[in-house]
Amino acid sequence: MAARALCCALTLLVFGGVCSGQELQLPSRVNGATRENVVFKPSRLPSGSYDGFTWNFKTFTIISGIGSSSLPTAPYRDRISLNMSTLALELRNLTENDSGVYTLSITRTAVTYTAETTLEVFEPVSNVTITSSPTDLIEFNSTVRLVCSASGSSLSFLWLNGSSEVTPGDRVLLTNGNSTLIVFNVSRHEGGPYTCEASNAISTHMSEPLTLTINYGPDSAFVKAAPSEPIYSSGSELTLTCSAESSPAAEYQWAVDGSELSDVGQKLVLPNIQSNDSGSYTCIAHNTKTLRYSTSEPLNITVLEKISGVRLIGPSELIIEGNSTNLTCQASGMVVSAEWTKDSQKLSPSSSVIFSPNNRSVTINPVQPKDSGEYRCTLSNPVSSGFASYTMIVNYGPDGVHVTGPSEVEVEGNLVLSCRADSVPEPVYEWQFNGTKTGVTTATFSVQQVNFTYSGNYTCITWNNVTRREASGSHMLAVKAKGTLSGQGGPLSGGAIAGIVIGILLGVAGVTGLIVYLKKRPKASSKGDRQNGVTQNGGEHELNYAEVQHVRNNQSVVNMGGPSTQTRQGTPAMVRANRGAAPNQGMKPTPPTEVMYSEVKK
Ligand SMILES: *[C@@H]1O[C@H](CO)[C@@H](O)[C@H](O)[C@H]1NC(C)=O
Ligand SMILES: *[C@@H]1O[C@H](CO)[C@@H](O)[C@H](O)[C@H]1NC(C)=O
Ligand SMILES: *[C@@H]1O[C@H](CO)[C@@H](O)[C@H](O)[C@H]1NC(C)=O
Ligand SMILES: *[C@@H]1O[C@H](CO)[C@@H](O)[C@H](O)[C@H]1NC(C)=O
Repeated sequence: MAARALCCALTLLVFGGVCSGQELQLPSRVNGATRENVVFKPSRLPSGSYDGFTWNFKTFTIISGIGSSSLPTAPYRDRISLNMSTLALELRNLTENDSGVYTLSITRTAVTYTAETTLEVFEPVSNVTITSSPTDLIEFNSTVRLVCSASGSSLSFLWLNGSSEVTPGDRVLLTNGNSTLIVFNVSRHEGGPYTCEASNAISTHMSEPLTLTINYGPDSAFVKAAPSEPIYSSGSELTLTCSAESSPAAEYQWAVDGSELSDVGQKLVLPNIQSNDSGSYTCIAHNTKTLRYSTSEPLNITVLEKISGVRLIGPSELIIEGNSTNLTCQASGMVVSAEWTKDSQKLSPSSSVIFSPNNRSVTINPVQPKDSGEYRCTLSNPVSSGFASYTMIVNYGPDGVHVTGPSEVEVEGNLVLSCRADSVPEPVYEWQFNGTKTGVTTATFSVQQVNFTYSGNYTCITWNNVTRREASGSHMLAVKAKGTLSGQGGPLSGGAIAGIVIGILLGVAGVTGLIVYLKKRPKASSKGDRQNGVTQNGGEHELNYAEVQHVRNNQSVVNMGGPSTQTRQGTPAMVRANRGAAPNQGMKPTPPTEVMYSEVKK
């Protein structure tokens, strides 16, 4: 520097203000790689020709020259070249020993110009590798040490985690000039990949990436059912799958209600489950590297037996009105609820319809005709249901027996009387005429061409052979001479006129006499009695005569205003005897031999 300052001062003196340092310059630093070449090239050579120059390395001269000739010193003879016009020096096949200060001096007209540069020779970076220890890492337990090794001089190191630079932190330490990365208590997320970049001034090299294997878990063991249902039906197939976060993959063990099953494996397949497979299922995951366990939350499995074979059982005997009867619904399987309908309508409890506490049976007491119908019980549980039906027939009657037909017919006219009874089953019929069996056992009593002997009291007796009850209804018939029917506008119409007497001789063998007379209505027969009787006969027939008297039988006067329907309990021998008799439609009843007939017109 002293020489340079002197030169500068001299230059200022000679050339009037231009610093010689500007006249000769070299780059202040030059980097070189071992076994490579380097060129020191001066810039701003002093203008004009020079008298001599010297290239020095430290204190040794490499090459010097005077005029146009130059001479390298022995150690450099084969390693250098000099450009005589630029004085640029090439130095070949560098070694680290070539590092140091190089100086170029030029002499011209007794002035010496000097410049210097510093060469640093580096070994290039190579063989960058990472080694890790230990290699078997266990999460939270292991501390891993990654060492980056490389060839080359003046190395510096940079670590990459994936694509981002590793920064030191609580558990992450960079040491040994950043060549060593230590991660304490590794976590599963710290597996990398890690790369190490080694560099010096002249080169950079990356290692191969290294991925750490960190054993962890098992964590969060979890049981999942497929299909997933709140309740399973017996006979279905169920697969339970256990999952856990684990590396390496966990081994699985299963337990039901706390006791271990022999089953191992991630899937537990239960084909054809039954109700005794119900329980609380857990899986236990185990990692053979970490030696840790994880037990799942229990998964409750409920299996219900399906309902099958539903039967609705009624009484073994026939059901009779007024009795008590019971319907019971049976099935196999787990019954949770029972519902009843009658004729598709919900059957609700009432004073006579009583459900058992579990609704499995229904008692009807007393049973009534309206209880007939189709009963259905439906048994169900959350996975199935089934139903069964029962058709109930309530046997009842006969009730309300009544005979319909005309109250008077013309002689030689046709007579049809119908007997109606409210009864299940259909009753057996038996017709009596004036208390005598006729042999007719059909619901209809019909005669063609009646004569006067057909006037009288027709009684229909009905018998229900299930309820074993009998009931009867009666009907009075008057056979009249032609043209004398009341209400026809004939000569007899026109109100209650006394004194018209018609004598008719009946051509019947055995007639001993005929008395025709007019008799006034008895005082006892009130208007109210008549209306009542009409009503009981169905309101269909307005009676036009007051009374009929059987003279020969010495019967008292029959008041047609009185009740005509009777019901008797029991099994009269007469009806029994006629049961099963063939229908006798149109058969002529045995007529009375003698009739006294009279009529009173209103
Ligand atoms: C180590 O790397 C950090 C950056 O992560 C850097 O700041 C530091 O200078 C480096 N140390 C050495 C000795 O190279
Ligand atoms: C590497 O990066 C991941 C996220 O990408 C991070 O979780 C982990 O902690 C990082 N490792 C280190 C040693 O910094
Ligand atoms: C029986 O059925 C009735 C409805 O008909 C219902 O309100 C009741 O809860 C049922 N009882 C049981 C035990 O199922
Ligand atoms: C008709 O006959 C029945 C049975 O024989 C009897 O009960 C009823 O009183 C009679 N009716 C009349 C009006 O005589």
